[in-house]
Amino acid sequence: MADVKLSIIYYSATGTVHAMAQRMAAAGADKAGAQVRLRQVPELAPDEAIASNAAWSQHFDRTKNEAKASADDVVWADAVLFGSPTRYGNIASQLKQFIDTLGPQWQQGLLADKVYAGFTASMTAHGGQESTLLALYNTIYHFGGIVVAPGYTDPLKFADGNPYGASHVTGGTNSDPLTDVQHAALDHLAVRAVTMAKRLKTG
Ligand SMILES: Cc1cc2nc3c(=O)[nH]c(=O)nc-3n(C[C@H](O)[C@H](O)[C@H](O)COP(=O)(O)O)c2cc1C
Repeated sequence: MADVKLSIIYYSATGTVHAMAQRMAAAGADKAGAQVRLRQVPELAPDEAIASNAAWSQHFDRTKNEAKASADDVVWADAVLFGSPTRYGNIASQLKQFIDTLGPQWQQGLLADKVYAGFTASMTAHGGQESTLLALYNTIYHFGGIVVAPGYTDPLKFADGNPYGASHVTGGTNSDPLTDVQHAALDHLAVRAVTMAKRLKTG
């Protein structure tokens, strides 16, 4: 499916969503054969906020030179996967700021008719992953986008348990690593997004 273009656009403060995004990029390329762009949205937090959290400042330093998202990364793509940590049950302001720069492309209809889906991480199991993904999807409806939720379209979704997207719980120390369960769900969503985009393209 090399003619299908997949953009993965994410924000991550302490690295979890970054790892999820990298996993999906690999799955999109290797398992689904898509052309993939992996893009980070710019950090907006003040230096003192970042410096107050060792994991945040280390991740910021490690990833500050990664390719940054632009409007063209959305326009270019047939499928777009947006990733954000859960912030009070919503997406992070950094990702929202990026989305809010897309007005001109929205106005020209350039964001419509694409496949979209989301992924997130939260500290706690009932900490708002679903509301984060649903909040993200409000925007997709305004784009005229096509939300391709994973649902329970594969038995593996009964293990990760999130039909709205892919997600991970980082736990009390915010450091529980991704397991095979999340890896499988991330791979499944990336492949599903590319597959559905391919079907849309070829009619
Ligand atoms: C301002 C703020 C708000 C947060 N809100 C929530 C929340 O509503 N529910 C939750 O479980 N975790 C919450 N968290 C924890 C983050 O979701 C968690 O650290 C994140 O998933 C880690 O992703 P990252 O490593 O990619 O930054 C919050 C963290 C911050 C800094």
